[in-house]
Amino acid sequence: MADGQTNQPALSWTYMYNFATSRGYTFHCNSRRSLCVMLIAVLLLVWMFYMAISSIGGDSAFYVYPNIYNDAERDTFLFDTFPEDFMWSSATSAYQIEGGWNEDGKGVSIWDEFSHDPTLIYGGQSGDVACDSYHKWRDDIEILKEMKLKAYRFSISWSRLLPDGTVNSINEAGIRYYNELIDGLLEANIVPVVTLYHWDLPLNLHKKYGGWLNVAIVQDFNNFAKLCFMRFGDRVKNWITLNEPWVVAQLGYGSFVKAPGILGDGMKTYIAAHNLIKAHAAAWHTYDNEFRAKQGGIVGISLNCDWAEPYKRTNPVDVEASNRLLQFFIGWFAHPIFVDGDYPEIMKTRIDNKSRLQGYTESRLPKFTEEEKQFISGTSDFLGLNHYTTTYTAPAPEDNSVPPGWGKDNGVQKWFNKKWPGSGSGWLKGVPWGIRRLLEWLKEEYNDPDIYITENGFSAREPENLDDTGRVQYYMSYINEVLKAIKLDGVKVKGYTAWSLMDNFEWAAGYSERFGLYHVDFNNPSKPRRPKLSAKLYTTIVENNGFQEESHGTLEMYLDPNLFE
Ligand code: GAL
Repeated sequence: MADGQTNQPALSWTYMYNFATSRGYTFHCNSRRSLCVMLIAVLLLVWMFYMAISSIGGDSAFYVYPNIYNDAERDTFLFDTFPEDFMWSSATSAYQIEGGWNEDGKGVSIWDEFSHDPTLIYGGQSGDVACDSYHKWRDDIEILKEMKLKAYRFSISWSRLLPDGTVNSINEAGIRYYNELIDGLLEANIVPVVTLYHWDLPLNLHKKYGGWLNVAIVQDFNNFAKLCFMRFGDRVKNWITLNEPWVVAQLGYGSFVKAPGILGDGMKTYIAAHNLIKAHAAAWHTYDNEFRAKQGGIVGISLNCDWAEPYKRTNPVDVEASNRLLQFFIGWFAHPIFVDGDYPEIMKTRIDNKSRLQGYTESRLPKFTEEEKQFISGTSDFLGLNHYTTTYTAPAPEDNSVPPGWGKDNGVQKWFNKKWPGSGSGWLKGVPWGIRRLLEWLKEEYNDPDIYITENGFSAREPENLDDTGRVQYYMSYINEVLKAIKLDGVKVKGYTAWSLMDNFEWAAGYSERFGLYHVDFNNPSKPRRPKLSAKLYTTIVENNGFQEESHGTLEMYLDPNLFE
């Protein structure tokens, strides 16, 4: 302390005047009035400055989910546009929309049979009529036009073309149906994107030799693919061999949830996947050798994958669990096809080890020969990604018990954050930043491939309001994250496909879970399609080719349907 000074602090409450606040507190001030006024003025200024700053932030930062996702760096909306030739699309699949299950010579598929067992599908429903697109495909083209979409992804029903699954008999009525649809799309300036296999295997092939469990299917699938290239390839330039082989193998031949409803033993799943991969590769080579030069199209595969968020990003074991799950999920198919013709190392090691511990004489994971690896490697012109949601991931306690299965084999536990917005499906939460992280992971992992998002969408349980704000939020935020992946991370995303064009038969959930941009009234025999708010939002995004700065206000209005129109 300097001489002559008291111990009194330079500024103390005792220097202040007495004044009473509305709450009745009493402060004491002495006669040095000006100091007191200055202090109040400074506090006032600080407060005003703080308010000004936070109001600037509030105006300029736009969050689609302000109460949940508002991390300034991760979640701030990006106003920018997509590349010029970006392919805006929407999707359906044959069994989910066509109906006409036994019309004009169509054969029976495993989904016809599965859904005719009333105990397996919600409310005993089936796809017998569905959206009746077998008769109403012109209406489907109309709504694609209404939304100004550039492309339409639909699938071909194998058993509509080949009733017993083989080329022994071709159903010309089926060929005619797809010819008319393709021609109608081209007339409307809409690019057809055709999936060859969206789960509806001809029942005969299942009965004859066990479907995907038998390597004989590779030849039959290849014959079917070749027929499609021959008959439609003069006009169809975008092909997807298989939709979500993970679902086919794991849910169809592992966990009974999807047709053919086989409860696997931790072996069938892997055998089915093995044949799916070979069948895909065979079809790609057929196109490459016999059609590409003349037809000039591209052939890829659509793989589904959730993003696996490490529970703690700083915890190496959570990061490892995330990577392991991604390898078991998408790597199971993408590694052979995009990397080196073989399964990811981590899958091989874990399944080989577990098989030994479980007393199997050989690994439950089949092996590709060197020749097969060469045949499989590099057989996709693009990566089709179907993505819907994200889970947290952490290691699960090792479980080597029998019966084995894919879940125990990967040894990862996954769960949702309770705050993540839910949908009409228990497995689907809206986590927009997950798609961006997944896209970046795919870019790194698979050597920067061309990626088409071949499915992304949101469900609501019926009955659903046309003001589907949940879906509006989902699309707006997910599409924006895709834009960030392109603009900020340099991922080569070439197109985006909204699942689905209209409400349809949602597999075991029947018509209870609605994914459509358009509402379908299934109780009305003419199955009218009506646009939901999300269809209008999607059209706005397509028309703007993204999110123009000046559309900020319009976008906010979509989030509040009461303000719209
Ligand atoms: C995908 C599937 C679609 C659709 C969607 C929503 O896995 O390819 O057919 O059902 O999920 O569940």
